[in-house]
Amino acid sequence: FQVPPAVNEPVKSYAPGTPEREEVLNTYKTMYESNVEVPLYIGSQHVKSGHTKTINPPHDHQHQVGVYHNAEKKHVEQAIEEALKAKQAWADLPWEQRAAVFLKAADLISGPYRQKLNAATMIGQGKNIFQAEIDSACEIADFLRFNVQYMSEIFEEQPESDEKAWNRVEHRPLEGFVYAITPFNFTAIAGNLPSSAALMGNVTVWKPSDSQIFSANVLMEVFQEAGVPDGVINMIIGDPEMITDVILAHEEFSGIHYTGSTTVFKGIWSKIGQNIHNYKYYPRIVGETGGKDFIVAHKSADAKVVSTALVRGAFEFQGQKCSAASRAYISKSIWPDVKKLLIEDIESFKIGPPDNMKNFINAVIHERSFDKLAKYIDQAKNSDEAEIIAGGTYDKSKGWFVNPTVIVTTNPKYETMETELFGPVLTIYVYDDDKFEETLDLVDDTSIYALTGSIISTDRYAAALATKKLENCAGNFYINDKCTGAVVGRQPFGGARSSGTNDKAGSKLNLLRWTSPRLIKETF
Ligand code: ALA
Repeated sequence: FQVPPAVNEPVKSYAPGTPEREEVLNTYKTMYESNVEVPLYIGSQHVKSGHTKTINPPHDHQHQVGVYHNAEKKHVEQAIEEALKAKQAWADLPWEQRAAVFLKAADLISGPYRQKLNAATMIGQGKNIFQAEIDSACEIADFLRFNVQYMSEIFEEQPESDEKAWNRVEHRPLEGFVYAITPFNFTAIAGNLPSSAALMGNVTVWKPSDSQIFSANVLMEVFQEAGVPDGVINMIIGDPEMITDVILAHEEFSGIHYTGSTTVFKGIWSKIGQNIHNYKYYPRIVGETGGKDFIVAHKSADAKVVSTALVRGAFEFQGQKCSAASRAYISKSIWPDVKKLLIEDIESFKIGPPDNMKNFINAVIHERSFDKLAKYIDQAKNSDEAEIIAGGTYDKSKGWFVNPTVIVTTNPKYETMETELFGPVLTIYVYDDDKFEETLDLVDDTSIYALTGSIISTDRYAAALATKKLENCAGNFYINDKCTGAVVGRQPFGGARSSGTNDKAGSKLNLLRWTSPRLIKETF
């Protein structure tokens, strides 16, 4: 079969006077007062455990937009059972039928559900409309459509045969079930991790972050309306450790599709090791984890290009992208110009709730994150090695607001040059123009993570040197651009070292992790 060609979902502008602007604001208003009740999705059942917690927007933590029901152990067990019950019929469904279900989901997201998902992402995760649109409208639709195309390409690739033997590869799903754990920061990742495994014929138990439940609930509505059969994607929320322990102890556990922190992923990996003798299959372990992403600016770089990359890379969505620039190395001779532009830009930012379209910066996700950021900001204020040149203030009276902050340090190994903060705090080290090569070595030495990074340079030799010397420091490496904003179908995304298994989201490589190929040789 020829599948419909995958095309990136066009990004809408939301300029004043556009219908999409009015629609998203109206939807936001309704959802803000909706007080939804989010159940557990187990097979055909919407289960209300009765143990509820409130959902509060990060910018207004006393306001309640809904409640969610927490799973008990028995619910996790039921979700696994329902997944396994759904398994055979789903796996036996011809692949183009599975493709049609997820293409329909993409269509629902780009059409009737677009503003509902955007508004839920704005309210629940604190994205402004432009950040919500590229995530919960475009990227998720792109994942669904490109994955269908990649699946069809995987099935087309066949080994050589001759007149004596016909060799064919059959891509079957894994036996057992797949566990998907998703983070708060991208609704698209939340949608992609369970659905990519399901597209390949697997059944899944999905645990979204408890800071993304508002939009996760809308995703479940989309999946159900698109015709994902009961039991194929089960959504369970609750105590993460309990849920994970129940799942990883199950003999039918056959893979994890994970995005989240490095610490949790390493814990999961070691629990899988402890349980290995209980399993019927070697589980697939696919994870995208932390980052300490960098921008290196060479002396030949244009100051405006550098400051734009820093501002967009470090502060869009409050720096809460795993790809966000959180450390930068700037050549001394361009630093005065870069600094001036950077401060001007930051001072022009509007900060506040996401329903005011002028606000570029909203609140960070929760109190834990706020406290951590405040701690590092205070530490910088009291350090001889650090100076705060922008921001440095925070306020949690109504929402978790941290002003975009730039720390300049004289120590390239200063704590915030190495520790992942996951917020709007950028640390900069200014290096001598003639120490470019040493600085690249330093970046390599201090890259515990290897997710994203950029070199900004108009000197081709300098760009080439950085590309070579930093080859192990970033799974996604950018020349003359910010280090965020990978687009599905263009820049498959993922990193190595402590940033993950580098099974690029939105690629054939990733989908192949969710199949168990059978080679059939037939002789005549
Ligand atoms: N895919 C996201 C980005 O590239 C994380 O920014």
